[in-house]
This record gives sequence, structure tokens and C-alpha cells, in this order.
Amino acid sequence: MSEISPIGQKLGNNSKGPKGELPFYGRRKGRPLRPQMRALFDNALPEIAVPQGLESLDGLFAHAPKDIYLEIGFGGGEHLSQIAAQAPDSGFIGAEPFINGVASLLRHIEEEELSNIRIWPDDVRLILDDLPSGCLAGAYIMFPDPWPKKRHAGRRILQQSMRDRLARLIRKGGKLRMASDHPIAKTWLLAEAMADDRFIWQANCADDWRVRPQDWPETRYMAKGVEEGRPSSWFEFIRK
Ligand SMILES: C[S@@+](CC[C@H](N)C(=O)[O-])C[C@H]1O[C@@H](n2cnc3c(N)ncnc32)[C@H](O)[C@@H]1O
Repeated sequence: MSEISPIGQKLGNNSKGPKGELPFYGRRKGRPLRPQMRALFDNALPEIAVPQGLESLDGLFAHAPKDIYLEIGFGGGEHLSQIAAQAPDSGFIGAEPFINGVASLLRHIEEEELSNIRIWPDDVRLILDDLPSGCLAGAYIMFPDPWPKKRHAGRRILQQSMRDRLARLIRKGGKLRMASDHPIAKTWLLAEAMADDRFIWQANCADDWRVRPQDWPETRYMAKGVEEGRPSSWFEFIRK
């Protein structure tokens, strides 16, 4: 079953990815949205949705922020809403194809009266190639789907094509922040980013990646990992 989102995309399983790339394999829908969440999805989302084919970030935010950050796969929006509240002068774009997660972020935005978040409720790869080079001050990938089996490795988010996109979009000196609690996923993420000489890992000692930096809020997946005895790792890279 598919339906049309408030910004006109067809929402369904396994929509096509960018040309020549794998589709999005994650979940798009969970439990049916409660009426209040449905109303937010239908009424609030169109007001703050990133339009398809956006070629410039000028005018996307009312306050013309100097620094714009992207969060890929914001889940329920716990991390994104907190970093946005910490930096009201900055702008934040969140991408997440899971409808229930989008509704959850909309609730955070409403309750915390945040005006500096814009949402792309779909596969992030579908907007990145239109955006201008160097437009981002940073990007966050928090607890990405691990896809631990070898045969699914092509589904992991930080593919070469994603690194190329992020290297183009993140300006010189900008940040790429990633976290994971999954032993296979975190090793892979770190190895992929370290092998890319456009990004420089900032860790000088083990605590730099073992201890959560104070300005890096928790996420729902992090909390789940802690409950289940999986410690998280925190990786910060700078775009050369
Ligand atoms: C394991 S969850 C983590 C959610 C959240 N970051 C957290 O830490 O609680 C990974 C999220 O990434 C999203 N995701 C996966 N591929 C994506 C893509 N291509 N574009 C945007 N989001 C994606 C999934 O829908 C899922 O919500």
C-alpha cells in the first residue's frame, strides 16, 4: 500500500534510490498515527518541508542562518530537536523516510517551539545532488541502520556515493559527526571515513570516541543500546 505525502511524494516500500543506486530498504510506516500526530503530519509538515529539487538554501529558513546542518535518519527527532534548540541562530535540515519518526519530530518542534528545522520526509539521497557545494556547516549520522550481514553491506548509509555527496556539500572546516553502538557498523563507519582523505578524524585519545561529547545529545537508539549493554562510539571528522 502506498499513499501520497503532504509534499507530494508517493510513500511506499522500497521506493527507488538515486539512479544506479540501491533503493531505501528501511521501514516507512509503523503503527497508524494517532489523530493528533496525523494532524501534525498533514498540516504542520507542508509548512516546513524541504521542497523537492531545491537548488539553493537561501530563503529556506526565515532567519537566514549562516550555518546549516543536516541530520540523516533522525529517527524520532530527539537528537535533532535538541541540537536545534541549542543553536537557534543555525538552521537544521532533517531527513527521515519513517513517517512515525517524522510525526515524532513534528511534535518536538511544536512542543519546544522550534523554528529552525526543515524536514525532508524521504530518502536523503534524493535531495543532496541538487544542493549547492559547500552549503553545509556539518552533517550528523546517528546510529545508522547497521546492516551487519556482508551481503547487505551495500545498504549501509556511508557508501562511497554518500561520502562524495557529503564531501561536496560540507564546507571546508565543517563537521561530519557519526555515532553507533553496533560493533560491525561502528568499525565499518570509522574505517570508511578514515580511508577518505577528505575527512580528518578528530580523536586524540580513546575517550574522544568512547565518551559522549556534552553537546551531542542522546538518541532513542543510543538509549536502547545502553539498556542492552552495547556501548556507543562517537566519531567526529572535519572536512579538509
Ligand atoms: C537505526 S535508526 C536511528 C534513528 C536515530 N538516528 C536514532 O539514533 O535514534 C536509522 C534511521 O535512519 C533512517 N534512514 C536510513 N536510510 C536513510 C536514508 N537513505 N535517508 C534518510 N534516512 C534514512 C531510517 O529510516 C532510520 O530511522
